[in-house]
Amino acid sequence: MEEILEIYKTTLTEDVKLWFEVAKVSDFPKNGGACIKYKEKQIAVYNFERKNQWFACQNVCPHKMEMVLSRGMIGDQNGTPKVACPLHKKTFSLENGENLNGDLPPIATYPVKIENDRVYIGFAE
Ligand code: FES
Repeated sequence: MEEILEIYKTTLTEDVKLWFEVAKVSDFPKNGGACIKYKEKQIAVYNFERKNQWFACQNVCPHKMEMVLSRGMIGDQNGTPKVACPLHKKTFSLENGENLNGDLPPIATYPVKIENDRVYIGFAE
């Protein structure tokens, strides 16, 4: 089942080849997540309004390969923004994808930019 993870690769802003427009800012819940689709990927997008930041990562949780991270609670661990999987509460850094409470593989993260009230996710392919 781990092959599900192979299509998700952390993308840094400097490696972005395409900014994919996903929706308006107002289409996303405040301090929560939503799922968008890009090609065959499901991407969780979070409007972390309390921090005035946006984050994006793979929607699939590497614990049981469930497409659920967009429904996770977001929060802060010692200054690191994180998401908790709604199923078994594994937590992941939204900055670098690290599993903060276990030894699961990191999740892939993607850059987000907001322009003219629109949300864009950066992809390298
Ligand atoms: S499926 Fe995400 S923590 Fe178990």
